[in-house]
Amino acid sequence: PQVCWLAPEQTAGKQKPYMYTQGQAVLNRSFFPGFDTPSVKCTYSATVKVPEGFTAVMSATSWERQEDNTFVFKMSQPIPSYLIALAVGDIVSADVGPRSRVWAEPCLIEAAKKEYDGVIEEFLAVGEKLFGPYVWGRYDILFMPPSFPFGGMENPCLTFVTPCLLAGDRSLADVIIHEISHSWFGNLVTNASWGEFWLNEGFTMYAQRRISTEVYGLAYTCLEAATGRALLRQHMDNTGEDHPLNKLRVVIEPGFSLFLGVNPDDTYNETPYEKGYCFVSYLAHLVGDQSKFDAFLQAYVNRFKFQSITADDALGFFLEYFPELKEKGVDSIPGLEFDRWLNTPGWPPYLPDLSPGEQLMKPADELAALWAADGLNMEAIEAVDVTAWRTYQLVYFLDQVLQKSPLPKGNVERLSEMYPKISKAQNAELRLRWCQIVLKNNLEAEYSKVKDFLHSQGKQKYTLPLYRAMWGGSESARALAMETFSATAPQLHVNVQNYVKKILGLEVAQ
Ligand code: BES
Ligand code: ZN
Repeated sequence: PQVCWLAPEQTAGKQKPYMYTQGQAVLNRSFFPGFDTPSVKCTYSATVKVPEGFTAVMSATSWERQEDNTFVFKMSQPIPSYLIALAVGDIVSADVGPRSRVWAEPCLIEAAKKEYDGVIEEFLAVGEKLFGPYVWGRYDILFMPPSFPFGGMENPCLTFVTPCLLAGDRSLADVIIHEISHSWFGNLVTNASWGEFWLNEGFTMYAQRRISTEVYGLAYTCLEAATGRALLRQHMDNTGEDHPLNKLRVVIEPGFSLFLGVNPDDTYNETPYEKGYCFVSYLAHLVGDQSKFDAFLQAYVNRFKFQSITADDALGFFLEYFPELKEKGVDSIPGLEFDRWLNTPGWPPYLPDLSPGEQLMKPADELAALWAADGLNMEAIEAVDVTAWRTYQLVYFLDQVLQKSPLPKGNVERLSEMYPKISKAQNAELRLRWCQIVLKNNLEAEYSKVKDFLHSQGKQKYTLPLYRAMWGGSESARALAMETFSATAPQLHVNVQNYVKKILGLEVAQ
């Protein structure tokens, strides 16, 4: 399942085949023999021979193109096996900064360069200021074919990203900032076991939002974090708060199929990300001073760089670094015990204050309330100019509308007409929300948008919520799910295929 072989039709250019690997969490064991656990780190080198007209790229610190279409790669820093990655295709590159270039198929390279020219270096520089030296040399970005199952994958030196990020307005740069943050949290300091995946993702969400605060300000960052909190709410509502995967520390058990045991890939849900973010924010709250907590994060990276650690190592270091907090017994405050954070499923016992985002959220909250009303107050609605809103403000608004859906009869149709910027959006985050609203309101007239979106890309976090919504909806929504899946299944990553099959009650091959 590790190595994805794509036919020409599955690429953006549709001319030449493509192959890529996705190691995380436990797929690299079918790519090469090795110790496929995040607790072991090593350097690697690779020699890759490709057919004429193809280029190979890897997550490596150096590479060289030799004659005979042979590429030689070397990763000179020790990394865990899941970060070894290879892609081969008709790809070209363009510089976007002093240590960064974008890679993409020729038909996408202009758009890729335009999206990120001149901005990557600022993200890296802010990261270095906050968390210490960037040790990986280059930071390049590879735009993947549309079926790539993730928003981004932090392969060292060469982040892989979905082409959905090419929104034309840099509005989805949070994904890049997230992957850059893994350069310290995850790639330098690594979770020793997939059962503590939150150490990678929770710290990275915190680091991402620190960089975002420095670059875009606190109001915007709190708004983005509020959309993250809404995703956590949706996830817990879907799975039930008490679900064993809604703990930060998950017990990974061997099993024989997707239905038995816990596969580390199943931990890819909102809990390690957003509950993990809340826990790290709680640690910062205990410290009470942002610059002291930033200094702690830098010391933490320095203490554990190139190592793999457990949550106990991380929390032990926290208490050691702040002896006055250790003395006060902050690890055992009733209801907020570190142990409870790690081992009890459910909603986070502490939520960071997102009120600095109020100025952006309040107008969106109010507008959503207007649209959810029985008799529409068009005068009040028309007084709000959403065309000036930023993408995440619209996303937040749509999440509120979704939460209040189904809306009274006729309202969604009006909303769709009134805001073509939303209902005809090309931006993937907006398209996802609009499709969710279409399904929750059973707006059959716009089913084609759901179908088109699912045909255009295969990101797991977009695909699964839509199949869940279709399967939980009307007869016609279920039919749409079956029809769309039979047409798109061959394009989807095998993991995503299996998760969709599970949702649709289809048999999953072992
Ligand atoms: N490392 C993850 C992607 C991943 C997780 C792959 C688990 C396989 C198993 C990556 O850093 C990530 O978190 N991507 C997010 C970005 C978002 C949180 C900004 C994604 O793809 O949605
Ligand atoms: Zn991540």
